[in-house]
Amino acid sequence: MKRTVIKGTGRYVPPRLVTNDDLAKIIDTTDEWIEQRTGIKQRYWIPEEGNVGASDLALEATKIALGRAGWKPEDIDLIIFATLSPDIYFPGSGCLLQHKLGLDTTPALDIRQQCTGFLYGLTTADAYIKSGYANRVLVVGAEVHSSGLDITDRGRDVAVLFGDGAAVVCVEGVETDANVGVLTSKLHSQGKNADILMLEAPASKYSERITIEMIEQARHYPKMEGKAVFKLAVRILPEVAQEALAGAGLKIEDIDMFFPHQANLRINQFFQKTMGIPDEKIFNNIQKYGNTTAASIPLALDDAMEQGLIGKSGDTVMFIGLGAGMTWGAVIYRFQ
Ligand code: ACO
Repeated sequence: MKRTVIKGTGRYVPPRLVTNDDLAKIIDTTDEWIEQRTGIKQRYWIPEEGNVGASDLALEATKIALGRAGWKPEDIDLIIFATLSPDIYFPGSGCLLQHKLGLDTTPALDIRQQCTGFLYGLTTADAYIKSGYANRVLVVGAEVHSSGLDITDRGRDVAVLFGDGAAVVCVEGVETDANVGVLTSKLHSQGKNADILMLEAPASKYSERITIEMIEQARHYPKMEGKAVFKLAVRILPEVAQEALAGAGLKIEDIDMFFPHQANLRINQFFQKTMGIPDEKIFNNIQKYGNTTAASIPLALDDAMEQGLIGKSGDTVMFIGLGAGMTWGAVIYRFQ
């Protein structure tokens, strides 16, 4: 039977380190406030000049992942690019990355599922592989948030949360009788909660997609009802974790490491406590990178693998997250 297995991972963040104290020099916030509520100590942002887009960060992460997989760009059958901050409105960043990789006609598609973009991307790759349409797929999560944040006192509740970065996973279809690779995926969305976390403008539903008035009202910046997101996350993440465990016929003890989306350390601690997960079985790196949205789960995976914490044959992990949409999901993966 064909199984979807990870052949290589890579991550890249831009060089500009921005600590909480750096932010406190620009906006009315403190290191203590940010760390207590979110766990974040620092994040990386693109340089202020130079026009660096999500596909540029993705290119650097891709080079590392390809090297570890032993692939050349021409080996890629399909690029799946998850981002909520594409380089430009259209075409998608997948096409831009494809060109930057020196490829000519390799198919590329963008996924706009925000913080669950990687979960949707990996599940899509698994489906393409199992259908026989593609065998080697690049799954990318990449974000440039910093150029789209309201870095003023008005936007401080959101601006302190987000970091820029990219992470890439090379997945391949492998014929094997072993129960390895993507074991199960459970995905959901709920549009009735679209307005608790959104970026409204420019918007095609308005006859003028963006106006000076909208800009003055900060409607071109992300808007979040933080408490509502928190409440949904702490209820839904344990639910979807149980759903995925049931789907794979596994118990919580069978999972060697949980990789929750890095939205907020407090959400992840709540999830850990509810599920009874020991400290050594949950991986968080939001402290170093902030919330990198579609990149956050693969960025955590790559970080943990590089530290030698996970990745042995038979290791079983759960990727899990919730984000704008609302969307949420969980994927269980076993290393070959
Ligand atoms: N620095 C200092 N003070 C701040 C900041 C800041 N950066 N931001 C807001 N405040 C102030 C507010 O103005 C308010 O002041 P007031 O009491 O004088 O009115 C006070 O802090 C409390 O504000 P709340 O909005 O009630 O803050 P809360 O305790 O809810 O914390 C937070 C905000 C951290 C966003 C919280 O709601 C949360 O953890 N939400 C979860 C959502 C999340 O993590 N989103 C990540 C992105 S979405 C995703 O990835 C799924």
